[in-house]
Amino acid sequence: MLAFPPGFVWGSATAAYQIEGAVAEGGRGPSIWDTFSHTPGRVQNGDNGDVADDHYHRYRDDVAIMRELNLGAYRFSVGWSRLQPAGTGPLNPAGVDFYDRLLDELHGAGIAPWVTLYHWDLPQPLEDAGGWPERDTALRFADYAAAVHERFADRAADWTTLNEPWCSAFLGYFTGHHAPGRTEPAASLRAVHHLLLGHGLAVRAMRADRPEHRFGITLNLYPVDPATGSDADRDAARRVDGISNRLFTDAVLRGAYPDDVLADLAELWPADVVQDGDLEAIATPLDQLGVNYYSRHVVRAADPAATTSEAGAPDSAVPARGNGWIGCDDVQKTGYGYPRTTMGWEIDAPGLYDILTWLHRDYPSLPPLYITENGASFDDVVSPDGAVHDAERTAYLDAHFRQAARAIADGVDLRGYFVWSLLDNFEWAWGYQRRFGIVHVDYDTLQRTVKDSGFFVASVAAANGLSGGRVAVGGGSVRNGDGATGGDGVGGGDAVGAGDGAGVKR
Ligand code: FCB
Repeated sequence: MLAFPPGFVWGSATAAYQIEGAVAEGGRGPSIWDTFSHTPGRVQNGDNGDVADDHYHRYRDDVAIMRELNLGAYRFSVGWSRLQPAGTGPLNPAGVDFYDRLLDELHGAGIAPWVTLYHWDLPQPLEDAGGWPERDTALRFADYAAAVHERFADRAADWTTLNEPWCSAFLGYFTGHHAPGRTEPAASLRAVHHLLLGHGLAVRAMRADRPEHRFGITLNLYPVDPATGSDADRDAARRVDGISNRLFTDAVLRGAYPDDVLADLAELWPADVVQDGDLEAIATPLDQLGVNYYSRHVVRAADPAATTSEAGAPDSAVPARGNGWIGCDDVQKTGYGYPRTTMGWEIDAPGLYDILTWLHRDYPSLPPLYITENGASFDDVVSPDGAVHDAERTAYLDAHFRQAARAIADGVDLRGYFVWSLLDNFEWAWGYQRRFGIVHVDYDTLQRTVKDSGFFVASVAAANGLSGGRVAVGGGSVRNGDGATGGDGVGGGDAVGAGDGAGVKR
């Protein structure tokens, strides 16, 4: 038995626009994702979140499923435009009522709520006023956060400001693959700063009200490897690491944007964007840091004309802006040849260990860590026996859980793990064509079916551990399978293929 520390939190995660539906009910206003998804060509298949999983009406069933799966915590986001339709002003009573009922239901099921305040659904009126590139949006976010926190403070103690500001800024304002679909490089950097400023101001405001609560931010982080040991590839990896990871972690944990990233972006970085006191606000101490991990980036220097799109729907009308990494048009994403999920992301469980131990090693002020998202998309089907036999997802999760345990054994203060996602849902620019759930959703009937991976997660959560013995601990790469999997027969999905020895950059 591979045991996790006592009190380790096992949960699942969702986001408002991806599951709720009911976009025109209860006084909800439009968000940028409503506008974007209703714009032809933006989302694959013309899908939108109008109905999604209809969680707005079925939340009781969904909480019951979580309970059946032994989950101790639920990470969900509150819809800004449901709670504050215009992005400013008093909270909308019907929106408050929905989350009140959800919180009551969770409380009754003994499931701790983890509230994310912003999972990409900016109220459309704030985008009409300029969106995240405008400083005022940060102030509006802090006001909204304070109001929502105050309203629900008696029943939720774990608060996350932003989910993945990298995506909000760069997919929303640089590549245009996500709402609001703008392709304005300098504006995307303004968005980075204002998202982080909004985060810091929100934490300050919420903490002033309830210092005993726990506040954090969720970042999508990636180990970045050079494809070869060449100087050009190593520099490509440094730059991608800078723009993907350190721009955010250094700001939040050190109170400074990294010098090398600012130098790389010298021609694009808006000189007037950082005002006195901003970085102190951004680096307001955190009680926890959320890590979303899906895959590793392997990159090489290349001809700009050869770069490929990193994210977004293939039939998107948006002209892809290179690889999604601003200032890195000469960088190409490659890989190790490992199996991929249907997102095209290589399955690389040791990358989770690498990112956790990197944070632990490089950031002395690191708060306790939580994996706030990890999971995989596969083309699941309900079998004639009525079950969903998603062995690949089970293997994926098993392998990643073991890497988390390995990181803990090596000293990382990791306290919880939220699987993405509870339900199959609206996967942004991919619409309903990608299934990440540990619970299958039939989009015709909206019927839920717990997948085999869901039962696997339930068993891990109940035991607070995995059967099958320990994962290898200590130094050395496990990329080639030397210990990445245990002996229980479910692991192994991550460990095929051989790395080329280019080495982990950090
Ligand atoms: C993350 C998002 C989440 C989901 C997963 C697959 O980037 O936070 O909403 O789309 O990816």
